[in-house]
Amino acid sequence: MNIQAIKGVKDILPADMPRWDFVEKCLRSLFKSFNFREIKIPIFEETLLFARSIGAGTDIVEKEMYTFEDRDGKKLTLRPEGTASVVRAFIEHNLNSFAPLTKVFYIGPMFRHERPQKGRFRQFYQAGAEVLGPSGPLQDVEIISFVTQFFEKTGLSVDPTLVLEINSVGCPACRPNYKKVLQDFLTGIANELCDNCKRRTNTNPMRVLDCKSESCQKALAGAPDILKYLCGECAGHFDEVQKGLSLLKIRFLINSRLVRGLDYYTKTAFEWKSGNLGAQNTLAAGGRYDGLVEELGGPKVPGIGFALGMERVISLLDPSKGIPEGIDLYIAALGGPAQKTALPLLSKLRALEISAEMDVIGASLKSQMKKADRLHAKYVLILGEAELAAGKAFFRDMKTKAQEEFPLQDMESTLIKKFHVS
Ligand code: HAM
Repeated sequence: MNIQAIKGVKDILPADMPRWDFVEKCLRSLFKSFNFREIKIPIFEETLLFARSIGAGTDIVEKEMYTFEDRDGKKLTLRPEGTASVVRAFIEHNLNSFAPLTKVFYIGPMFRHERPQKGRFRQFYQAGAEVLGPSGPLQDVEIISFVTQFFEKTGLSVDPTLVLEINSVGCPACRPNYKKVLQDFLTGIANELCDNCKRRTNTNPMRVLDCKSESCQKALAGAPDILKYLCGECAGHFDEVQKGLSLLKIRFLINSRLVRGLDYYTKTAFEWKSGNLGAQNTLAAGGRYDGLVEELGGPKVPGIGFALGMERVISLLDPSKGIPEGIDLYIAALGGPAQKTALPLLSKLRALEISAEMDVIGASLKSQMKKADRLHAKYVLILGEAELAAGKAFFRDMKTKAQEEFPLQDMESTLIKKFHVS
């Protein structure tokens, strides 16, 4: 029997972890600086939550959700994203009543039944944040500046192909009018559109703008521009977002075809793309969703957030980031009596958070030294039969190769001093 991981689902192996840890550390320290607090949302929810928030006519809801019935016949879905769950939790726990604004972040796996390819998985990790409360454009600027600072902190900002694209997708006051104009335009060019876009002309016309097919993109050349159809409120908001970004010297491109694949967005929408990612080139994305809390039965509270794809971020990291850390000490104890002498020492050092490893299979000194090297041990303590008889051990610095001799009698305090003082 040869059971393998499911297509599009990856193991993250111990050797990969230093890079994941590096990214997570950068995120957590920035989230702290920006006053975000962590929320842990469930891995699965009632299907209805995602259908209602992400939108029935989206790819995610139409064909990508992992939906199943549990033993009680309840329809459940593995979360394809985090925003819907955060908003559900916000309403359910009445978080609005505790604070003037709610700023939360989450890091965890999401699930979408997409066609697996480079940078696109069926289980992937997102780090995301949501702010519920403030409706002003400066909140949009704060979210965008968080991601910008994250790219600086991780070194990704040196990528010359990394661009931030922004757009405004309007609001319930102005979008229906634009949708109608767009629909009329799409109906006029229906013959030139792919089957999917023909269908979407009626179900979700704005998504047609995002079609990857070259012929559709060609046919869309003269499509009406949403920015010309924004109401005064949305246009003013978008203008202020741009001014705020300029104030922080955050470079951006306006892409009026940016529509996003989730229906809850209003006003500002944004995406960071990199030319170094391949076809799946979006690193992070988000936007404002001022109607979602109400849509899910909550109070009239606006929201905005973003999520970034951890695998995509990690794939772009410079190799110098997240180098595996070695252990502090390897104890090369030769023979049973030496092992027994070393065992309490090993236990004590570990309790003091000195990372230590010891050979327990009685390997030769040569093979133990090789093992210490492979574990990137900073120091090795050599305790052979002769050393044991003489009441001493050798302490070797693996970098300088310098070797010192320490008495066994007060080895514990000598090592504690060595690791804590030097
Ligand atoms: P999204 O654009 O669907 O937005 O996903 C955000 C990011 O998750 C993408 O930019 C990408 O980096 C990563 N991602 C998405 N699908 C996959 C996949 N199949 N494999 C690998 N990475 C993937 C959202 O999910 C929104 N909830 C973002 C948001 C938060 N908007 C407001 N608040």
